[in-house]
Amino acid sequence: MNYPNSAIFPFVTLSSLLLLLLSSSSSLPWRARATSDSSFPSSSVDSFLQCLGSRSAPLLESVYTQTHPSFESVLRALIRNRRFLTPQTPKPVAIVAPTNVSHVQATVVCAKDNGLQIRIRSGGHDYEGLSYTSNVTFVILDMFNLRSIEVDVHNEVAYVEAGATLGELYYKIANASNVHAFPAGVCPSVGIGGHFTGGGYGNMIRKYGLSVDNILDAQVVDVNGRILDRISMGEDLFWAIRGGGGESFVVIVAWKIKLVRVPEKVTVFDVSLTLEQGATDVAFKWQQVAPKLHEDLFVRLHSTVVNGTLLVNAIGFFLGESEKLIPMVNQSLPELNLTKADCKEMSWLESVLFWADFPAGTPVEALLNRTQGPSDSSKNKSDYVKTVISKMDLETIWKLLIELANSTGANVYMQWNPYGGKMSEIPESDLPFPHRAGNLFLIEYVVYWIEEGTDVSDHNVDRARYMHDQMAPFVSKEPREAFLNYRDNDIGSTGSDRTDFKEAQVYGSKYFKDNFPRLTRVKGMVDPDNFFKNEQSIPPETK
Ligand SMILES: Cc1cc2nc3c(=O)[nH]c(=O)nc-3n(C[C@H](O)[C@H](O)[C@H](O)COP(=O)(O)OP(=O)(O)OC[C@H]3O[C@@H](n4cnc5c(N)ncnc54)[C@H](O)[C@@H]3O)c2cc1C
Ligand SMILES: *[C@@H]1O[C@H](CO)[C@@H](O)[C@H](O)[C@H]1NC(C)=O
Ligand SMILES: *[C@@H]1O[C@H](CO)[C@@H](O)[C@H](O)[C@H]1NC(C)=O
Ligand SMILES: *[C@@H]1O[C@H](CO)[C@@H](O)[C@H](O)[C@H]1NC(C)=O
Ligand SMILES: *[C@@H]1O[C@H](CO)[C@@H](O)[C@H](O)[C@H]1NC(C)=O
Ligand SMILES: *[C@@H]1O[C@H](CO)[C@@H](O)[C@H](O)[C@H]1NC(C)=O
Ligand SMILES: *[C@@H]1O[C@H](CO)[C@@H](O)[C@H](O)[C@H]1NC(C)=O
Ligand SMILES: *[C@@H]1O[C@H](CO)[C@@H](O)[C@H](O)[C@H]1NC(C)=O
Ligand SMILES: *[C@@H]1O[C@H](CO)[C@@H](O)[C@H](O)[C@H]1NC(C)=O
Ligand SMILES: *[C@@H]1O[C@H](CO)[C@@H](O)[C@H](O)[C@H]1NC(C)=O
Repeated sequence: MNYPNSAIFPFVTLSSLLLLLLSSSSSLPWRARATSDSSFPSSSVDSFLQCLGSRSAPLLESVYTQTHPSFESVLRALIRNRRFLTPQTPKPVAIVAPTNVSHVQATVVCAKDNGLQIRIRSGGHDYEGLSYTSNVTFVILDMFNLRSIEVDVHNEVAYVEAGATLGELYYKIANASNVHAFPAGVCPSVGIGGHFTGGGYGNMIRKYGLSVDNILDAQVVDVNGRILDRISMGEDLFWAIRGGGGESFVVIVAWKIKLVRVPEKVTVFDVSLTLEQGATDVAFKWQQVAPKLHEDLFVRLHSTVVNGTLLVNAIGFFLGESEKLIPMVNQSLPELNLTKADCKEMSWLESVLFWADFPAGTPVEALLNRTQGPSDSSKNKSDYVKTVISKMDLETIWKLLIELANSTGANVYMQWNPYGGKMSEIPESDLPFPHRAGNLFLIEYVVYWIEEGTDVSDHNVDRARYMHDQMAPFVSKEPREAFLNYRDNDIGSTGSDRTDFKEAQVYGSKYFKDNFPRLTRVKGMVDPDNFFKNEQSIPPETK
């Protein structure tokens, strides 16, 4: 990695071409007309806009102030949660959507010089909306135009800009090779920018680890507006942005990633079990075997409530054909009765559609569709499990889930994602993400609903907290660990946009365990005045 900064990310020069290609299915006004709005009460906003204009005149074409006709549609295009799409939700004074890295530099410098906070948004999937809401005057640095992807199969690497989605990345990789892939999340609309920097995992986690375990380099813009790569940023900062949350340190413009190998055919299955069909026995046995299975096999348990009763789905992904898979499952988890009829063989890219719940036969081009359907309101939380939960306790958990569904009228489910394999081989301090050996599985709790209104919302959020409280006996303790990409403002956050150090230690120890102090030291080195911040960011080390 010895080339000069400007040459490392070759797509920067190709970006406009690729942009046209990738944006063909987009409804975003990626080149809207210039705005000439002067009605802002705050003079700092005016001088922010003047500053942008003076540093880079064409940039004003990518600025949407509140009176711009496209302001609302640009703002909403990447809001994934209706809980943050209400009349009360604070809005930015402007959205800046760079089409070149120089615009990112200008936005950072001009915001800092004018005392304005920025929120960086790539895919907008943050569970607490932190990429597009704030309780102080703020600007969104919206990365959706910076989304080129260059795949270099010969060297088994790819360069991907922060505003690309997982679906676009997967499509591009598969378009270049049918035996390469990248280990990241299962939801194609998730943004590269937030996903990778929060860790990022999907159904190849047991074989290849997290997304951040497969990153080689990054292009970032620091608080002084400088463009840095791995060599010029240094190993401390490069460590911090791979799992520590980029938004505390820099703006990530692009990543260089290492592709991984996959067979031409993979196998998937989705077997559902009622309590009568032995769901409890399967869940009990699953905890003992799923984290120890061959690392080519990932079996997620999805537990939900249907018609007032519990339904467990075992959803599988195998890097190989069913002939090899069936005896493996029959040996370790015979309770599933997995047969050839349950198994579907397909290309890795087609398996992405299967895992994302697209109807069978959906063309792979659907992965390029950026137009989202109406979103629900939801509240999610996470936990890590280190010891097997007994059958009796499982029944308690099922009752809790049924009670939660009953008392909210919402849809509820739990996802259990097995660890082990590659995850157990990587030391906890290698990267900020600390949840490695010793974890059987990650739990995600999801409560989602369609009714409007803050009363409904407050009630449902409160019930989700109750469920989480009741789970305490069965999950990790001291700290009760949590996954950064499943952001949860309930953990040590006042919601007041204050990053009090003591409070930060609470969420810091849950998200990062013993890596938190190093994150605060890196923060102190690269952003001592705490420009890059949000309700759960890393504060600079206090001396
Ligand atoms: C439907 C759905 C499915 C999901 N599935 C998975 C999954 O399978 N695996 C998994 O690991 N996670 C999953 N997640 C969680 C997801 O990984 C995180 O929400 C992630 O942070 C989203 O990234 P984003 O760019 O879309 O979000 P954003 O909301 O744009 O960003 C999230 C955070 O990252 C910061 N950020 C964004 N871009 C940058 C940048 N360029 N530079 C610096 N900071 C930046 C933001 O400021 C914010 O704090 C899922 C989320 C949803 C809603
Ligand atoms: C894009 O940004 C780079 C880095 O600041 C700069 O050298 C280049 O001139 C910019 N390109 C355009 C078209 O503005
Ligand atoms: C909760 O997780 C589910 C599944 O990953 C996702 O569809 C939903 O958008 C998430 N909720 C929030 C608040 O983002
Ligand atoms: C690659 O993408 C192009 C353009 O989208 C398409 O025409 C072609 O069929 C794809 N090739 C493969 C191997 O997926
Ligand atoms: C698996 O087979 C056994 C024995 O035939 C049966 O008791 C059990 O209900 C089956 N389980 C499922 C999930 O079909
Ligand atoms: C739930 O009830 C509906 C209506 O009675 C029925 O159509 C559906 O099959 C039931 N679902 C399950 C999983 O039992
Ligand atoms: C599982 O293994 C047993 C014993 O080896 C065998 O009798 C049974 O048919 C196998 N089941 C499947 C679904 O392959
Ligand atoms: C893209 O997805 C949206 C929302 O699901 C859908 O309405 C639209 O038809 C899709 N567009 C294409 C081209 O498939
Ligand atoms: C669900 O709630 C109703 C009253 O709202 C109650 O009668 C019923 O017993 C509850 N069911 C369960 C399974 O908790
Ligand atoms: C803003 O403040 C309100 C009221 O205190 C709080 O409910 C909300 O979570 C805060 N929003 C953010 C993004 O912190």
